Amino acid sequence: MRIGVLCSGGDSPGMNAAIRGAVLRGVDVHGFEMLGFMDGWRGFHDGEYLPLDRLAVRGLSPRGGVILGTSRVPPFPGGRGTPEALRSVAERFRALGLDGLLLIGGNGTQTVARMLSDAGMPVIGLPKTIDNDLDGTDYTFGFDTAVSIAAEAIDRLRTTGESHRRCMVLEVMGRDAGWIALHAGMAGGAQLTLVPEFPETIEQISEWVLSVRDRGRSSLVVVAEGFRLAGSEAGAVGTQVTREGHDGFGRPRLGGVAEVLAPLIEEHAGVETRATVLGHVQRGGPPTAFDRVLATRTGIAAADAVARGQWGMMAGLRGDRIELVPFVEAVGRLKTVPAARYAEARRNFG
Ligand code: F6P
Repeated sequence: MRIGVLCSGGDSPGMNAAIRGAVLRGVDVHGFEMLGFMDGWRGFHDGEYLPLDRLAVRGLSPRGGVILGTSRVPPFPGGRGTPEALRSVAERFRALGLDGLLLIGGNGTQTVARMLSDAGMPVIGLPKTIDNDLDGTDYTFGFDTAVSIAAEAIDRLRTTGESHRRCMVLEVMGRDAGWIALHAGMAGGAQLTLVPEFPETIEQISEWVLSVRDRGRSSLVVVAEGFRLAGSEAGAVGTQVTREGHDGFGRPRLGGVAEVLAPLIEEHAGVETRATVLGHVQRGGPPTAFDRVLATRTGIAAADAVARGQWGMMAGLRGDRIELVPFVEAVGRLKTVPAARYAEARRNFG
């Protein structure tokens, strides 16, 4: 069998480990011929690919980024999944002599995987995103690494913040979900955690900052990039926190919320405040051991699914097991932070 591997969307630590897992299992155990498309859908459409064998994936588990490259180039010519566009992807599929395709990606990619699968193409999804916002899996690889880096940033910001008795605001990624902020905030003992799912007013935030100061402490605020202020300030801040441009899928680029929030806290609470935007640091570098193991197991499960002909599924983590989940259970809605989880982290009395 000739099996393609394609990565789409932002990179996520563990992608290389997933490719290695799929190739070692697919080539050595199942006897597949495997190839990886360069830069996502661009390589698929241009016919540019890397043969994937044991040698090609040697030593990949600890390496960040992804050897194949990834991009947000849309799968469909013209950018829309019309019947004609789907047909042209199917034609390309045949022209490349593929018997199956492993799609490594987040929400957008798994949605595309579902469309291709519904159109009759043999596809298996491997969920990845640092945002952890995909349904049908308990965790996505890359998330644990991003959280670890964000937690370390909190540890570092705390000591400088305390030395100057400042309030420190750390912005982390996560797009429309607050998972990275929630986990990093709890791991690092942040006093306030702000997530997109639960807007707070600037008055409430300032009150918390002041009560932390009254207890002789300096506040560490972790804010997810998709957070919006509730109340009267929301409109003004909402427009400022969306940076110019889009992310390649036509969605507005997020970020910049910390730089807006910090002066507002200073103004309302009268506490000197500094902002740090963690940015792509949280997506780069070697994956944690947890992400390496999760990604490797996901790759192995995907190769086994191909061998069994279980197409149209995503290899998700359920408890301790990698299970094949129908796309319909994984895509279509975002996995967001539930109220009970937010209640645990909303305000730590550090
Ligand atoms: O989806 C992953 C993610 O890192 C988001 O958390 C973030 O909003 C976005 O990608 C950033 O995208 P880019 O790397 O294209 O700026």
